[in-house]
Amino acid sequence: MESYKKLLLANKAWVADKLDVRPDYFERMADDQSPEFLWIGCSDSRVPAEDVTGTEPGELFVHRNIANQVIHTDFNILSVLQYAVDVLKVKHIIVCGHYGCGGVKNALTHKHLGLINKWLRNIKDVYRIHQRELDGIADQATRFHRLVELNVQEQVWKLAETSFVQHAWQKENRPYLHGWVYDLHTGYLKDLLMLTPGTPLNDIYKFEFED
Ligand code: CO
Repeated sequence: MESYKKLLLANKAWVADKLDVRPDYFERMADDQSPEFLWIGCSDSRVPAEDVTGTEPGELFVHRNIANQVIHTDFNILSVLQYAVDVLKVKHIIVCGHYGCGGVKNALTHKHLGLINKWLRNIKDVYRIHQRELDGIADQATRFHRLVELNVQEQVWKLAETSFVQHAWQKENRPYLHGWVYDLHTGYLKDLLMLTPGTPLNDIYKFEFED
């Protein structure tokens, strides 16, 4: 059997399973969505957002890109973020990186891979910001681990620096911003940091709103 056909067959079995438990499962699901969480994760096939968090369809609004980055000129993530914050009114935004991330690893090298290097350039900036700490780590694997964590941390701060998040913090005291790392070897998520609404930001990035 061709590999893609396996997916379509598995879909049929999945539908049957769901209907077994609740005959109206899909009808209820199709009505609307009101997820409480926005998940920003890596595109890596080994970090499926719903599986690792034990969540069901309808619970996570998801954006994934290479190395779970929040880029201020990327209309894709900005649109996802605005919709999640302004329309869905999510309570929590989770940036989830993972140890062993190929995108982060590439940023530690000088290898040229074409367009992807433009995207990963942002992680080189994270390296530069934390260069003193990272260059002080002699063991290569440990340094790689640490850059994965620092990348998550930086992306969480970048979220806080967006006008969408700052506006929602001021007006509605949400969302909470979380930075997590997934360990491919154990399956566990590590909770790195949380920014609560109103966390002081570097003044350079603050916006003043008229409404
Ligand atoms: Co990755």
